[in-house]
Amino acid sequence: MTPKKIIIAIDGVSSSGKSTAAKDVARELGYTYIDSGAMYRAVTLYCIRENLIHQGLVDEKTLKDRIPDIRIEFVFNELTSRSDTYLNGEKVEDEIRNPDVAALVSPVSKIGFVREAMVTLQRELGQEKGIVMDGRDIGTVVFPDAEVKIFLTASPEVRAERRYKELKIKGLDVNYDDILSNLQERDRIDSTREISPLRKADDAIELDNSGMTLEEQKAFILEQVEAWRQRTIQP
Ligand code: DC
Repeated sequence: MTPKKIIIAIDGVSSSGKSTAAKDVARELGYTYIDSGAMYRAVTLYCIRENLIHQGLVDEKTLKDRIPDIRIEFVFNELTSRSDTYLNGEKVEDEIRNPDVAALVSPVSKIGFVREAMVTLQRELGQEKGIVMDGRDIGTVVFPDAEVKIFLTASPEVRAERRYKELKIKGLDVNYDDILSNLQERDRIDSTREISPLRKADDAIELDNSGMTLEEQKAFILEQVEAWRQRTIQP
């Protein structure tokens, strides 16, 4: 009998390795990986391109009028075996990871109507279950009934070091201290915002992966999935 498909929610602080963990687990289970942060990043890129952010302040009125015209999609890429993010038909997968987007994504993602639109899309994508979704509010707001919830953390220095290496490999001219202060600032805004702040769901399992390998992290999450299955097996 094929096991029942479930929803796995992976939340946590910025650059804690959520997407790597989520992708690894999705691959292992044959599930779909959905990057909810990519959606907020795509809206931020739209705002930057349309000149809707001035000195860190978002022109909310114009953005609200335009939000129905912002189309975000994930398209599976056969070459990389992963999904790429598209904004109004254009592939923006690489551009949304750039530091200029990271610097402005928190003010955009704290806006209520932006969150409502993204949460609606996230729930649509999760309708069939069999997904691993990472973000900040997946276990608390988007899928409060997710069968398995993980909350990832790591020390700020470890996280900044990982992000620094990742961006360097991509050939970007980045500075470790800037990355460290950006992620600390994002954590501050993400956890203190009024709507859907970043917080651990009461029933989430917290994992500090500072000293863990990717294999250990994947194994830990798969153990939680297995533990859920064991708990729900009918006697
Ligand atoms: O996971 P990430 O770093 O790509 O996310 C980018 C930003 O998007 C993050 O700083 C906060 C926001 N975000 C959010 O508010 N809710 C989510 N579910 C996912 C991301």
